[in-house]
Amino acid sequence: MPARVNGLRTAFLQYFADADHVVEPSAPLVPRHDPTLMFTNAGMVPFKNVFTGQERPPALRVASSQKCVRAGGKHNDLDNVGFTARHHTFFEMLGNFSFGDYFKEQAISLAWSFLTGTLALPTEKLLITVYEDDDEAADLWRKIAGFGDDKILRIAGSDNFWSMGDTGPCGPSSEIFYDHGPHLPGGAPGTPDEDGDRFVEIWNLVFMQYDQQPDGTRVDLPHPSIDTGMGLERIAAVMQGTHDNYEIDLFKTLIAASVDLTGVPAEGGEAPSHRIIADHLRAASFLIADGVLPSNEGRGYVLRRIMRRAMRHAHMLGAKDPLLHRLVPTLVSEMGRAFPELQRGEALIDETLKLEETRFRETLDRGLRLLDEAIEGLSSGDTLPGEIAFKLYDTYGFPYDLTEDALKAMGIGVDEAGFAAAMERQRAEARKSWSGSGEAATDNLWYELKEELGATEFLGYETETASGEIVALVKDGARVEKLEEGDRGIVIVNQTPFYAESGGQVGDRGTLRIADETTFAVSDTQKKLHGLFLHDGVVEQGKLLRGQTLTLSVDQARRTATCGHHSATHLLHEALRQVLGTHVAQKGSLVEPGRLRFDFSHPKPMSGVEIKTVEDIANAMILQNSPVKTHLMTPDEAIARGALALFGEKYGDEVRVVSMGVTPESEKAGHAYSIELCGGTHVGRTGDIGLLKIVGESAVAAGVRRIEALTGEAARDYLATQDTRVRAAAEILKVAPDDMLDRLAVIVEERRKLDRQLTEAKRELALRPEGSDDASDAAVRDVGGTKLLARVVHGVAPKDLRGLVDEAKQQIGSGIVAVVGVSEEGKAGLVVGVTMDITGSHSAVDLVRVGAEVLGGKGGGGRPDLAQAGGPDGAKADAALEAIAASLEVESDNVPAPSAPRHAGRA
Ligand code: ALA
Repeated sequence: MPARVNGLRTAFLQYFADADHVVEPSAPLVPRHDPTLMFTNAGMVPFKNVFTGQERPPALRVASSQKCVRAGGKHNDLDNVGFTARHHTFFEMLGNFSFGDYFKEQAISLAWSFLTGTLALPTEKLLITVYEDDDEAADLWRKIAGFGDDKILRIAGSDNFWSMGDTGPCGPSSEIFYDHGPHLPGGAPGTPDEDGDRFVEIWNLVFMQYDQQPDGTRVDLPHPSIDTGMGLERIAAVMQGTHDNYEIDLFKTLIAASVDLTGVPAEGGEAPSHRIIADHLRAASFLIADGVLPSNEGRGYVLRRIMRRAMRHAHMLGAKDPLLHRLVPTLVSEMGRAFPELQRGEALIDETLKLEETRFRETLDRGLRLLDEAIEGLSSGDTLPGEIAFKLYDTYGFPYDLTEDALKAMGIGVDEAGFAAAMERQRAEARKSWSGSGEAATDNLWYELKEELGATEFLGYETETASGEIVALVKDGARVEKLEEGDRGIVIVNQTPFYAESGGQVGDRGTLRIADETTFAVSDTQKKLHGLFLHDGVVEQGKLLRGQTLTLSVDQARRTATCGHHSATHLLHEALRQVLGTHVAQKGSLVEPGRLRFDFSHPKPMSGVEIKTVEDIANAMILQNSPVKTHLMTPDEAIARGALALFGEKYGDEVRVVSMGVTPESEKAGHAYSIELCGGTHVGRTGDIGLLKIVGESAVAAGVRRIEALTGEAARDYLATQDTRVRAAAEILKVAPDDMLDRLAVIVEERRKLDRQLTEAKRELALRPEGSDDASDAAVRDVGGTKLLARVVHGVAPKDLRGLVDEAKQQIGSGIVAVVGVSEEGKAGLVVGVTMDITGSHSAVDLVRVGAEVLGGKGGGGRPDLAQAGGPDGAKADAALEAIAASLEVESDNVPAPSAPRHAGRA
């Protein structure tokens, strides 16, 4: 017969597995599909949508042991925990479910034979309640248990009628009670002192048979279903012969560890403190394992309240150092096998508890001193002013209920209204200074919404789909009650898996849906005022109303690709520091599904070898496939551990630190390869990045370089495209891709040779008179006793004209060469050469100017033996040469050659 907690859980699940139930693992404590709930608080929570018919069940028969937290919100048991035998913030609910399969009879008989058969509980200790008019259930109990009406009590009212909410599936319930014996105070169910310790409800069987309509009527459900819940701690107490849940093996072990570490015995006045520590340790650890981290709002704040309450009690026990985190190993060894998330999260749980307790202890003493002073003169029945409670909250980090808790033993109350008023005053101050800051109108709207609604709970580190309630709708910059089909607008929900753009990572896209009727396509998610998430998009179908519940689904492929690029950015950053030096600091980054861009300080371009080394290091980290870990710590601690942070950035009290990769050096230093302060979403393991390819390195500003890179699919696509190109090129070259480079080198060399030969040939051709095939035939005329070779050439590059002229000068020995080269666009280049022997009488510079003028050009220059000019008018090439010839004639008329005077009269 199992009696210990772990054995009982196993026995229950095995019993129902044997009865054809599928055993489902516990769902997370943060309900993904119920935005109205802060925490999962019953075994049926994960199946709510199955009962309402929105979702298909995993099987028709299911059993589970569900983690539950009741703290914050409606079922707030925080105050009582530690002072009673059965209140917990965290507990496990064992349950079996039938989704339209078996109904009352089998539910009763399964429960009965588990209790009296498997657990061998004596029937005389058991007592049954049924809903007052549920004759069917009463008859079944008579038949199955053999009980008479004295042991089947009919109860009116909500105790035996169970519903999920104001509408929806509901039905009568039947509860099984255990009688712990007359030595304990307490009456039977339905009597005035039923809440005593003697009769304890151990199992609730809910017969889901109606669908409650908004108008108050109930219609029969087409498939009546079963939902049951049995508190594991309660049944363990029964099996261990105690009525006190804190006396069961699991709690004894946790409390013994607390006694061991504090040296304070568990009996007497300190008993509640040990119980509170043990209970809150469970709640806090499981919440952290499920992704909740302490904060000042929402779930994170409930976690903080639970933690701080336990921490005050650790302090009361005289613990000199943070205590709670030292109990984590005991908890993990007790519960880690049944809940592997506890093992996986052990380091994070330890760190989070330690950090919270360290920080809280910094103000705890001063807060308690203030409290002592404030209650001087107060006595039992008095009330602490709300102002003081607010100061304790605001300055010393005392959650309201912690102050209440601290004064409870003395019978002193707290002025809650005064506390609320002080809080409101502070808000009003903040509002005033905000509205005075002259921000844009929409900014005022966001401020108003943030004030009223609080921050959106971000669930996207843990999940990519969740339900949320529409808390506000915005259209054209103003709040509206609904968005109609075709409207573009902004949807704000109380909780979302959508990542809002920040830290360089783009906002998520995806879809918001209500059943099959309504679809809102989210094209971007933005964040205002540190936590108000705006889903921007268009109503594609149906309409959205404020207050409705939506299913939010992130575009997973896009998110996955984005995560890969984000994690790769971290690896790249560290690899750059390793290769280029620690002066490398992030100057900007962009993380998208299809690429990443990373800007960093570095004075000069990276060499090809550096780029390749960085890429190799990052890819080695990717292949290592080590887990990517997230921790929460103070900015100081993070930086002390070597985390890379953005200089000048303002960080909150606590920061997320993302670490990944290991190298021998980092291992020696006791940390991961890459550690960065980061709020982004990341891959689970580095291997999920797939591959990193750097595709660009450039300058963005003085001293700032930019790397562009691709990962995963994008990198593969890029490389595949490159490969296709290489293959296509190889095909054109008619070689195998491997031989392509050799072939290209040969081709380039050949081409160079051919170019040279072509130039030669052109030059030669250029000087030949038309129709002649001999260059020496070049038309050389005599102008006034000077040899002139004048030619128009086509297809000769301007830079080659001079060579042509030099060559021609040599050919003619003494004289003048004038060549006009006409380009394809019709422009002209003119080069005139004068052999040295006659530069005394002829200047190339003068001649080139004459030609240039005709070509529409200006000037021209050079030396007396070689000058060059150009002009736009290539069509006038012949005319230009004629003009040069004509000017020579004039020259020879005016300037007699020294050896042959032509005009005797002048001589
Ligand atoms: N859902 C039922 C309960 O929480 C079993 O008691």
